[in-house]
Amino acid sequence: MKKIAILIIVLAWFQPVCAQRSFVVDAGKIGAKIQPDMYGVFFEDINFGADGGLYAELIKNRSFEFDQPFVGWIPFGDVKVMDEDPCFDRNPRYVRLNEKGLRRGTGLENVGFTGIGFKQNDTYRFSFYGRSLDGAEKKFRIELISNNNTIGKGNLSVAGSDWKKYECTIKAGETSLKGKIRLVLETAGEVDLDHISLFPTETWKNRENGLRKDLVEALYDLNPGVFRFPGGCIIEGNTLETRYQWKNSVGPVENRPLNENRWNYTFKHRFFPDYYQSYGLGFYEFFLLSEDLGAEPLPVVSCGLACQYESTECVAVGDLQPYIDDAVDLIEFANGPADSEWGKVRAEMGHPEPFHLKYLAVGNEQWGEGYVERLIPFMEAIRGKYPEIKIVGTAGPTPEGENFDYLWPKMKELKVDLVDEHYYRSPEWFLENAERYDSYDRNGPKVFAGEYAAHPKSRDNNVAGAIAEAAFMTGLERNADVVQLATYAPLFAHVDAWQWKPDMIWFDNLNVVRTPNYYVQQMYAQNVGTNVLSILQDGNIISGADGLYASSCIDKNTSEIIVKVVNASADVQDININLTGLKGTVKNGEVLITCLHSNVPEAVNTLEAPNSVVPTHTSIHTNGNEFQLKAQGNAFYVCKLKIQPKK
Ligand code: AHR
Repeated sequence: MKKIAILIIVLAWFQPVCAQRSFVVDAGKIGAKIQPDMYGVFFEDINFGADGGLYAELIKNRSFEFDQPFVGWIPFGDVKVMDEDPCFDRNPRYVRLNEKGLRRGTGLENVGFTGIGFKQNDTYRFSFYGRSLDGAEKKFRIELISNNNTIGKGNLSVAGSDWKKYECTIKAGETSLKGKIRLVLETAGEVDLDHISLFPTETWKNRENGLRKDLVEALYDLNPGVFRFPGGCIIEGNTLETRYQWKNSVGPVENRPLNENRWNYTFKHRFFPDYYQSYGLGFYEFFLLSEDLGAEPLPVVSCGLACQYESTECVAVGDLQPYIDDAVDLIEFANGPADSEWGKVRAEMGHPEPFHLKYLAVGNEQWGEGYVERLIPFMEAIRGKYPEIKIVGTAGPTPEGENFDYLWPKMKELKVDLVDEHYYRSPEWFLENAERYDSYDRNGPKVFAGEYAAHPKSRDNNVAGAIAEAAFMTGLERNADVVQLATYAPLFAHVDAWQWKPDMIWFDNLNVVRTPNYYVQQMYAQNVGTNVLSILQDGNIISGADGLYASSCIDKNTSEIIVKVVNASADVQDININLTGLKGTVKNGEVLITCLHSNVPEAVNTLEAPNSVVPTHTSIHTNGNEFQLKAQGNAFYVCKLKIQPKK
C-alpha cells in the first residue's frame, strides 16, 4: 500500500517530459510592423461595470429618475417625489421631505449597488442639491451605516428657498462591504433634495465625479494600447430610443438624462430591473481615461439599428441624418478646436486640448444588407469631413457563417479601414484557430478583434481559457500586418451583479480580482514589440503541434527580442530556442522570463485567493545564441533578451 502511495505521489509530482524541440527565431529579417496600440480593452456597461463599478458614485438612483423613483432608497416619514420647478430640467424629479416633529423622523436611506463599500479611515464626499421651502435653515444629519451601527457622521444645513449645492466630508470609522447611508431631516419643516451623491474622496487621480481607483489601477497596470467603448449592445439599445446617445453623456453631470441599461432584462436567469445608466461615466470621462491609460480611444456609435437580437427597429436610410450628425459631431467633440460647437463643450468640461481621436466604429454586431446600406452614408459624411479618421465596420456577431461571409466582402468593397470581428468560443476553438489569420488577404481592410474570450464549459475565468487565448494570440502577433487591434471582452463584472461571464476583471464593493485572462492580456500588452520576427520549428510555424504555440517580435526602440511560447498540453516540454541573424550579442547572456502557469487547468483567482494564478519572473542564461526553455504544461511564457550591438 505504502509503495503504491509513494508511486502515485511521484507520478503526480513529475509531469511527463517530452523530447526536446528546437525553435528558430530569425532576428536577421525584420517582419511586419506591429501597431503600438495593438492589445487593448473593451469597456461596456454590463455586469454593473459603470454605475456600481468603475464609476465611483456610491448612491444608486441619485436623481430619483428610475422608472420606480424609490429604487435604491428606503424613505421614512413624509417623503414625496416631485417634479415641479425642478433643479435639473433633464432629470426633473426630486424629493420633498416634510418633518412634522414625529418620533420616527423624516429622511431616506440608500442601499447603494448591492450595498455600499466603506473603508476604515477613508473619507467620503457627500453632497446634494437642496432648498428650504420657507427659506429658514433646516438641519440634516448624515450617517454611514454598517450592520445597523453608525460608523461615520456628517451634518449639513439647508438655507434659502433657491436650489443650492451642499456638501460635507464624512470619515468611515470601520470597514464595511455592504453598508448604507442615512439622511435625517432634524428640523421641522419642508425641504426639497435632488442629486444626492456620495463618492470616496480618493478616486483615480482624486477627481470629483471620479472613477474607482483600484479598478483604474488594474487597467493602468495592463498597459492597454486601445480602449473601445461604450459597447457592445449598449450602443444599439433594446430600442432605438434607449440606444447610447453620447451627447446625453456630456456636460454637467447632474443634467445628463438617465437611460435604461440594455442588460437589465436580457437574461431571465440574471434579471436586474434596477440596472440603469446614469451617464456619470460619459464620453468625456471615457476620453480622459483613455488619455490617462495612454490608450487610443475607439468609440462606437449607433448606425440606426436597434440591437438585432432584440428588435427589428431601424431608422429609414433617408432619416439617418441625426445619427450621422452624432457621429461627425463626436469627432469634433474629441478633436475640434475649443471654439467649435462641440470642441467648446469639451473645453468647458476641462480639456481644451484635443483628445486626438483616430478611430471610430459605426455599429456593433450588425448584420444584413440593412447594415451595409446604413454604413454607406456614415462613411461618406465622415470621410468627407474627417478623411484621417479610421472607420471600423463590422463582420457581425460570429467569426464565421452566413452573416460573416456576406459582410466581409461588403466591408472590402466599401473600403472600411478595419473590420470588427467577435468570437466568444470554447478554448478548443481558440486552440484550433490560431492559424485563422495566416491566410487572410494582405491587401484588404485590417482586422480589429473587437470582442473575444475563450468560454470554458464552466464559463469561469480559468487557466485553460487563458492559455487558449494566449495560444490564439500568437496567431494575432504573427499576423500583425493584418490584425491591428484586439480587445478582450467584457472587461468588468461585479461578483453580485453580473449578467455575462467570463470577464477580465471581477470586483466587489471593495476588492478587485485580476483573472488569469487578465494576466495573458497584460503579458501581451507589456511586450508588444515593434516588428514581427519569424519563429519556426523544422521550417514550419509553431501552431498547435504537441500543444505548442509560439510567436516572436523585436522591439526596435529598446533592442529587445521577445519570444512568446504557449504550452497548452499537460506535459512539460523541453524547447531549445535558437536566435539566428543576430546583429549583436545577448546582453549579459540573460533571458528574462515571465510565466503564467498552473498544473490545474480549472484554476481561477477569487476574492478569497486573488493571487492563485499570477505571472512569475525569473531569468536564465543563454548558451551563445540559444537558450533552453523547460515549458511547464498549461503555461504561457514571455522570454525577453536585450541585444547589444557588436563592438
Ligand atoms: O460583451 C458582451 C456582448 O457580447 C456585447 O455587448 C455584444 O457586442 C456581444 O454580443
